[in-house]
Amino acid sequence: MDGNGRWAKNRGLPRIEGHRRGVENVREILKAARDRDVKYLTLFAFSVENWQRPAEEISALMGLLELFLSRNLKDLVENEVRLRVIGRPEELPERVQSPLRKALEATKNFTARQLNVALNYGSRTEVLDAVRAYAEAVSEGREDPKRLDWPGFTKFLYTDGIPDPDLLIRTSGETRLSNFLLLQCAYSEMYFSPVNWPDFGRAEFEAALESYKSRERRYGRTGEQVQAHAPAEEASVGQ
Ligand code: IPE
Ligand code: MG
Repeated sequence: MDGNGRWAKNRGLPRIEGHRRGVENVREILKAARDRDVKYLTLFAFSVENWQRPAEEISALMGLLELFLSRNLKDLVENEVRLRVIGRPEELPERVQSPLRKALEATKNFTARQLNVALNYGSRTEVLDAVRAYAEAVSEGREDPKRLDWPGFTKFLYTDGIPDPDLLIRTSGETRLSNFLLLQCAYSEMYFSPVNWPDFGRAEFEAALESYKSRERRYGRTGEQVQAHAPAEEASVGQ
């Protein structure tokens, strides 16, 4: 979700107003994704690098997160959406801890849909946390490095149990991944939109899904192989 600041700047408004409009758009996209039966939606809300922003912007973002959680919990429950966090949520300020815990607890048994929110997330941090946990498991005899394969390693990632993204959308015209799900996006289709996040509404989202439909996912095979047989399976990749 990129471009909140520029959206505001273009209108002569403070950056925080862009973030506020960005949160409103999250609600819009949640509805659009639900209508299109998207089972897993992951939002990059706050990165480990975002702590470098001005303190007042960080504080405003945390306030918006707190508000989002308390205002949308009812909606998540009614629509049976399970909330998950990827990242290091324990390092977030106290004010978001309780609404976050409450929302995670209230939605933990839902299986229909899942909303993953990347909070205090960075791919490299995730790799370090995973390697650390794996090394501990080895030293305690629960894991054997000789038997390590990719599915086995993914159990140590924040995204354990979450399928790899089929489609990654980045808004605001930036064409980079910025430390987001680098391992999980190994075979994801990429969609870069010039539209800033607050304006990336239902129509833009639909256009991204349309673009996805026309992609041919080969996972290392040839186009002829993919067309002649059942679609290639990601599960067999990279083991
Ligand atoms: C995305 O908008 C929101 C967050 C990172 C929380 P930005 O704040 O990155 O907006 P720009 O990139 O300055 O326009
Ligand atoms: Mg940005």
